Amino acid sequence: RHTLPTLVAIDGPAGSGKSSVSRAAARRLGFAYLDTGAAYRAFAWFNIEREIDTSDADAVRRLLPEFDYSIGTDPDEYYVRVGQTDVTDAIRSPEVSAAVSAVARIPAVRSQLTDLFQSLATNVDRPGVIIEGRDITTVVAPEAEVRILLTASEQARMDRRSAEITTQSAETVAEQLRSRDRADSQVVDFMSAADGVITVDSTHLDFEQTIQAVIDVINTRTKRALH
Ligand code: DC
Repeated sequence: RHTLPTLVAIDGPAGSGKSSVSRAAARRLGFAYLDTGAAYRAFAWFNIEREIDTSDADAVRRLLPEFDYSIGTDPDEYYVRVGQTDVTDAIRSPEVSAAVSAVARIPAVRSQLTDLFQSLATNVDRPGVIIEGRDITTVVAPEAEVRILLTASEQARMDRRSAEITTQSAETVAEQLRSRDRADSQVVDFMSAADGVITVDSTHLDFEQTIQAVIDVINTRTKRALH
């Protein structure tokens, strides 16, 4: 018997804890995990690798058909590959972070990646899947059974990021985060909850409490399906 997996859509800004919380929650629930930001990052990495000027939207678009990308949806075996190259770590570089908003704003890029996310999400070998990004609750999976906006105050997000990134000063990290927030929010509104989306504010929660809060929302929302 084939049933579609339970879809859990989680959106939020950088530094909200979205990726690590989503992955931990997926692991505990036995769900698959799909990090859509990693796909945008992988495409940005590919543009840099090919020495494409990412401010030239036509040049970026021409690279799309060649973008051969794969991502692990098992929360215990997370990887990102472009062609044969493992880019799991490379896509977290400041260079990629700085280029990603420019490629993510191109409609042809968004529609190709959105198609890919939708087919990946419906083909997982698990009872459910947590899909995490910026436009999951609104564009990629607006019909998801569970839709969450994970937020945190700007200060909390800056503090978490600078604790993660020890190679740069706190001011540099803060400025990069602010400028990416600005660029990203021109593409999709990920700061306010769409109709029917539940907000989880992690400002005053630690990592474990945030995972619990997300799992509580998922359990409450899917109770109907479990009985
Ligand atoms: O979540 P992240 O920082 O890894 O995301 C990287 C970039 O990708 C982010 O700057 C915005 C973009 N993105 C997007 O436009 N839509 C998504 N669903 C996910 C990410």
